[in-house]
Amino acid sequence: MRKKIVAGNWKMNTSVVEGEALAAAVAAGMPEVPSDVEIIIAPPFTHLVSVAKAVSGTRVAVAAQNCADEPKGAFTGEVSAPMIAGAGCKYVILGHSERRQYYGETSEKLVKKMRLALAEGLSPIFCVGEKFEERNAGNHFSVVGAQIAEVLFELEPEEASKVVVAYEPVWAIGTGITATAAQAQEIHAFIRGTLAGRFGSDFADGISILYGGSCKPSNAAELFACPDIDGGLIGGASLKADDFLAIAKSF
Ligand code: 13P
Repeated sequence: MRKKIVAGNWKMNTSVVEGEALAAAVAAGMPEVPSDVEIIIAPPFTHLVSVAKAVSGTRVAVAAQNCADEPKGAFTGEVSAPMIAGAGCKYVILGHSERRQYYGETSEKLVKKMRLALAEGLSPIFCVGEKFEERNAGNHFSVVGAQIAEVLFELEPEEASKVVVAYEPVWAIGTGITATAAQAQEIHAFIRGTLAGRFGSDFADGISILYGGSCKPSNAAELFACPDIDGGLIGGASLKADDFLAIAKSF
């Protein structure tokens, strides 16, 4: 059975002190969250060590929001996969649309990042999703299919089995416009089918595919009830512990 996951991507928000308090509030809510739901929070790099300490011994796992495409060396301003693993992270978000859009993240770089993360025992949360114009032109399947093929198909099945996929339509991120459950289910099924075509159906059945994009307490239950939606990658609503916990209880 694949894992149900609710992950909070804090993006570039909160101070260290605010982040520690948010992490502690999320951890305090765990007794009410079903035990088969994995809870992940992804604070900024500066918070990773203290947030990992704040949630240590609880069910809350920590993710970084990115990692470098080199393991070490003269790369000023970068943070490597070994550093992230050493800070206490279990996961790393890779290929978020904001990184693809603003920081020139290419599939080629993402393959390198994925391999480095996996070598450290980190599970990548690999993000895909089409832009508004691409969906309007009916190209969302080909765009997402290519994003999957260019990165995940480069991995060995053993490596790829550690990956969590997050489908985040760019037009739904931070806009308040959520994909309908039918739209999301359709493309999640397509992603699973694409993975099955390359790695086999048993493999594809075991991969968690999360929905992200204006997911909130009022729409999470409908989305999570879809057969191919295994949880959510939450942006804005993950900055309020109550909202994030309400989403985590929506299965
Ligand atoms: P919002 O939930 O704010 O739309 O952000 C989604 C997202 O980008 C999570 O990675």
